[in-house]
Amino acid sequence: MTAGALPSPFEALAASYDGTFTSSRIGTRMRRAVWRRLDAAFVPPSRVLELGCGTGEDAVHLAKRGVFVLATDAAEGMVAEARAKVERAGVADRVTTRALDAARLDEIHLEGPFDGAFSNFGALNCVPELAAVSAGLSRHVRPGGRVLLCLMGRYVPWEWGWYLAHGNRKAAFRRLVRGGAEWRGLHVGYPSLRELHRLFSPGFRFLGARAIGVLVPPSYVEEWAARHPRLLAALDAVERRVEALPPFPSLADHVLVELERR
Ligand SMILES: C[S@@+](CC[C@H](N)C(=O)[O-])C[C@H]1O[C@@H](n2cnc3c(N)ncnc32)[C@H](O)[C@@H]1O
Repeated sequence: MTAGALPSPFEALAASYDGTFTSSRIGTRMRRAVWRRLDAAFVPPSRVLELGCGTGEDAVHLAKRGVFVLATDAAEGMVAEARAKVERAGVADRVTTRALDAARLDEIHLEGPFDGAFSNFGALNCVPELAAVSAGLSRHVRPGGRVLLCLMGRYVPWEWGWYLAHGNRKAAFRRLVRGGAEWRGLHVGYPSLRELHRLFSPGFRFLGARAIGVLVPPSYVEEWAARHPRLLAALDAVERRVEALPPFPSLADHVLVELERR
């Protein structure tokens, strides 16, 4: 294992992640919603830092638009998948990959400062020390730079309804358990929007928050979504119109927080 990597349950998921999430109907729609915001925030030829890049889907997307990305992840298997995808896409001149535990961001040397940074789909829920991420991003992102963070939300009515309807009360309310949940040996936290605001306000101005998955269901509802493609498309269309309106960002499967380095 290299210096920046962590023993991680994501190692075992790296090869199947794109099949189960990235190319799912729900995952595709959610990612498209995030890309709209990434594309608005990062214009070529800016250089951005990605935390928890997984298989590199977002890094490749941005690189194809002319953005330079340092794509990092704590799981070496994910970094390897990302590297292979970058090479297949022919954007190796714009994307560098590296094993990096985001919790160590405030102590590690990187070739910065970066024009911006982002993290997508819950990578930062796996980092208990979000204050260190906040301090690290303050260190590595230039003043005025944008930071977009997409984390799993805490209050998710879709999830409550789905699991209660299936008689699983524990799963319905797992995100509300004090101190977070354990998943395959990894601690997963579900900070509220208010907590994120508090954690990142020392170095960042809060520009807004958007709901990713408030009407569109969580990804484990994929089978239902496959049976109701037109309803899924309609829910997505309405969600895109209301995504920034309170209280929707606080009630979504994921929340996308947009920050500006002070
Ligand atoms: C649900 S996946 C999301 C991957 C990718 N961002 C995407 O949009 O598909 C979460 C990722 O976070 C990574 N991760 C978990 N803990 C991490 C940490 N402490 N530092 C950096 N990455 C971490 C995992 O290895 C995994 O690739």
